[in-house]
Amino acid sequence: MANVAVIGAQWGDEGKGKIVDWLAERADMVVRFQGGHNAGHTLVIGENVYKLSLLPSGIVRGTPSVIGNGVVLDPWALKAEIEKLTAQGVKVTPETLHIADNCALILPFHRDLDALREDASGAGKIGTTRRGIGPAYEDKVGRRAIRVCDLAHLDDLGPQLDRLTAHHDALRAGFGEPPVDREALLAELREIADFVLSFAKPVWLMLNDARKRGRRILFEGAQGVLLDVDHGTYPFVTSSNTIAGTAAGGSGLGPGAVGFVLGIAKAYTTRVGSGPFPTEQENEIGERLGTRGHEFGTVTGRKRRCGWFDAVLVRQSVAVSGVTGIALTKLDVLDGFDEVGICTGYRLRGQVIDHYPSNAADQAAVEPIYEMIEGWHESTAGARSWAQLPAQAIKYIRRIEELIQCPVALVSTSPEREDTILVRDPFSD
Ligand code: GDP
Ligand code: IMO
Ligand code: MG
Repeated sequence: MANVAVIGAQWGDEGKGKIVDWLAERADMVVRFQGGHNAGHTLVIGENVYKLSLLPSGIVRGTPSVIGNGVVLDPWALKAEIEKLTAQGVKVTPETLHIADNCALILPFHRDLDALREDASGAGKIGTTRRGIGPAYEDKVGRRAIRVCDLAHLDDLGPQLDRLTAHHDALRAGFGEPPVDREALLAELREIADFVLSFAKPVWLMLNDARKRGRRILFEGAQGVLLDVDHGTYPFVTSSNTIAGTAAGGSGLGPGAVGFVLGIAKAYTTRVGSGPFPTEQENEIGERLGTRGHEFGTVTGRKRRCGWFDAVLVRQSVAVSGVTGIALTKLDVLDGFDEVGICTGYRLRGQVIDHYPSNAADQAAVEPIYEMIEGWHESTAGARSWAQLPAQAIKYIRRIEELIQCPVALVSTSPEREDTILVRDPFSD
């Protein structure tokens, strides 16, 4: 039976949460496989708005939800998010939430280090979410991390903590900060350990078993391909691999488990934080996109930068992530524009190129080549069938499909769960 991996095909905030929630109705479980609470996914269901950062978006429907080993987990952020959702009437129990016991933890000094580095970087800062994501992944790869399973053995953590604090104390000293208070850290961990452990298990076992029994797994990516640590706009990226291939390794399943890869792309482009953005519109077009699209970050409240759809970048995301079909979101935001732009290529120092270069200076130097398409004045907001879309909007979608070399499987026309047009069902493909 088909599984589906949902990934962002731009710089994040493409509307993954809405699409995952919508697809979760037909999934047996939803699995997060990378990132952490740097993600911010907004779900609108009737009168209710749910904001999720760490928990898989399936949790709102009660679909069994899994946090895979590829995620970095802040125990206090987890508890706060569960409490917030519980207050909104969502049930989060050890029956509905399963956390990989080999997840690396985000600790308070990771958050400190993220902020200290950003503050010291001036104009060169990455514009991170300051959640400690980068420093936590560094410790994981550096083989110093404390993991979920270690919470059951806090009394035996001595040598592990020695290595970890020696590393961080040296870094902190460089910033004029005091060493890590080990006793305070252990006390905080003791207080939260049982809560986290109540959800912990070897989820790879559970997932492999589910797969054998033909259960439908929906993988929920965070961020987007252009923030991928290898394929994105390095160094202005997040510290994980955001491509669909990570769904397997980040959950403990083989690569064959991934199935249909659904890339989520906005009908225009946004980015939050620093870094190159070829089609950015720092003018009234960008303002209008931002206002109509309510482009403010879910996690940090920062204003998102806005611009036209970049077909070169999305084509690249489709290729490196093996995207089978695209969900094109926020089409309604383009309603009423006289014309809409699509970037079809770049000019780099006089030469026309058809892909995004890897070098940071080249990425900053490319000039977009636009194709302007006549807009539409009818409303697409709330459309639930292809027949409800104006002819010009359909032309726009068809042109995007051609340029990115990938079919559109879904179209989203408002934040509301049901305002979604199904063109091709990812689960029965
Ligand atoms: P994610 O991080 O990819 O899950 O996306 P976010 O939730 O951070 O940002 C997407 C925003 O757009 C959210 O506020 C959604 O409610 C909203 N949204 C999603 N799809 C649509 C759509 O088709 N039209 C409009 N107008 N808003 C949408
Ligand atoms: P969702 O899942 C948009 C960006 C940050 C910054 C860079 C590195 O909601 O799409 P980090 O804190 O990860 O070290 O920050 O990545 N970023 C996101 N931008 N959506 C996200 O997640 C993001 N998560 C991180 O703004 O530029
Ligand atoms: Mg988001």
